[in-house]
Amino acid sequence: MCGIVGYIGKRSAQEVLLAGLERLEYRGYDSAGVAIHTETGLCVQKAKGRISVLQNVLGKSPLKGTIGIGHTRWATHGKPSDANAHPHTDNDCAISVVHNGIIENYMELKQQLIAQGATFSSETDTEVIAHLIASVYTGDLVAAVRNAVSHIRGAFALAVLAAQQPDQLVVVRMHSPLVIGIGHGEYVIASDIPAILPYTREVCVLEDGDVVVLSYDAMKLMDVQGSTIERAPLHIDWDVATAEKNGFEHFMLKEMHEQPNAYRETMRTRMHDGRIVLTELDAFVAVLPKIGRIHIVACGTAYHAGLIGQKLIERIAGIPVEVDVASEYRYREPIIDAHTWVIVVSQSGETADTLAALREAKRRGARVLAITNVVASSVAREADDVLLTMAGPEIAVASTKAYTTMVVVFQLLSLWLAQERKIVLRSECEDWWRALEQLPVHAQHVLQQAPKWHAIAQKISLHDHVFFIGRGLDYAVAQEGSLKLKEISYIHSEAYAAGELKHGTLALISEGVPVIALATQADVCEKMLSNIIEVQARGAYVIGIGAPQLRGIVDEYIDIPQTIDAFSSALSVIPLQFVAYYAACIRGNDVDKPRNLAKSVTVE
Ligand code: G6P
Repeated sequence: MCGIVGYIGKRSAQEVLLAGLERLEYRGYDSAGVAIHTETGLCVQKAKGRISVLQNVLGKSPLKGTIGIGHTRWATHGKPSDANAHPHTDNDCAISVVHNGIIENYMELKQQLIAQGATFSSETDTEVIAHLIASVYTGDLVAAVRNAVSHIRGAFALAVLAAQQPDQLVVVRMHSPLVIGIGHGEYVIASDIPAILPYTREVCVLEDGDVVVLSYDAMKLMDVQGSTIERAPLHIDWDVATAEKNGFEHFMLKEMHEQPNAYRETMRTRMHDGRIVLTELDAFVAVLPKIGRIHIVACGTAYHAGLIGQKLIERIAGIPVEVDVASEYRYREPIIDAHTWVIVVSQSGETADTLAALREAKRRGARVLAITNVVASSVAREADDVLLTMAGPEIAVASTKAYTTMVVVFQLLSLWLAQERKIVLRSECEDWWRALEQLPVHAQHVLQQAPKWHAIAQKISLHDHVFFIGRGLDYAVAQEGSLKLKEISYIHSEAYAAGELKHGTLALISEGVPVIALATQADVCEKMLSNIIEVQARGAYVIGIGAPQLRGIVDEYIDIPQTIDAFSSALSVIPLQFVAYYAACIRGNDVDKPRNLAKSVTVE
């Protein structure tokens, strides 16, 4: 996730680009940069850090020109640094590129380009694009871009300038968002609508495979083959605040809707030819045979993802796993030796307790893997190995897409471990593979049902206590659902292993008390049904999620698409997120910033 902008018109390109980048800063803030055609040629200025750092540099030595491109980075390939900041250029600075997305075959392309004489000055996948376009450029930028794009695999939104053509800006979209604002005698391009709204409300939303040539007086839309496309612009009525949320009322709602795409991003480069490929763990492979047990350590929602990781790794890869809340782990004198693999899970990578646990584990000699959403975070820097969740920045305090992508990473990791330990049957692998591939589509299907759950939230919002029950993986999901509900709706809720309820808590179930029951696991489905009947007998109002057998028994039934039981959690949690969200809205709470809570807790 990064933000790109571009401008061609009569205004100062520098001013438009910097203002646009500020509006896109939510998409990443590891570094920023611009390339502008000036009187002295195509100039690039970039700097590590927030956009304000670049603003200071450009404030002292402005780039004067009316056509340019800009970028704000969310690091994926390569740490945040000046060298890895966009725009990227070829060796002669003939081509300048900004990019949002991931180039999957960049290593292969890089080797070919090096063999042809290119030298690389960054660790990014994007630099490959600049060299590739330059290698086929013969004075016609759009032809060179179209040619280069035909060799690239992956997701990309690109904006490209050529030093020799100071009156042209070429953009391409493939799986990463890009919009063009059509003003009077000017065009503004951006990854997202808020960056465009100060200039125009007429917007052309690009589709996959679109290539656009922008000059001072015209815009030409075509496909990769060069055939012209006609598309009427859209008129955008949103105010800027709504636009930042992509038209959604809250960041949490936007982020819940981003989950199918986040699943795709998390899996994109990690599934090849029937194998799970985790190149990030290449160095760990030699250590794996020595690993006898795993400790997963995290806080809050990340801890709940860890509970799922535990069950998946034990079930699929056969390695014993303990899960701890980070603040407890350090002080319980955990038994750690060279055979222990410690996995810390943290969306922000900055949670003080998780970081302290990581340090303690390393001090005691463990190898540490970090599962995090932020590449340059403290946890990522201090761990031996890192798996990124690829959710993109999450703004709402209540975590949704960051949690579910952690779950997807654990799904990938458990399969990878089974594969590397050679303990998995090929036929089983195929089922898991198919289930993973279908996950984004299934998640989309779940999201489409969301409006139906408003009525359930309406009933729940009238109560002071709500209970969640489930067994196995469903119990872990129940804990996350309960946390989501309490943190934003302020309704007291508790999650129980369904079989445990009768050992005390059943005393709290009385007429009308809502109980949310998850039943996605075939091996314990009948037992879940018995537990549901137990609470119904005490008058509970039961909302059931999962198995079709629940239909007709429970008071409200939420269907989720059929998948293999081990991977159902990334789907069954979505209705729980929505019930919490709607309940918080109905109660008039500040959904994105719940009271007393912070997104990142950097104190112990
Ligand atoms: C805070 C947030 C939670 C989050 C927890 C762990 O409490 O409000 O949403 O789950 O920290 O954060 P981390 O960044 O380590 O995943």
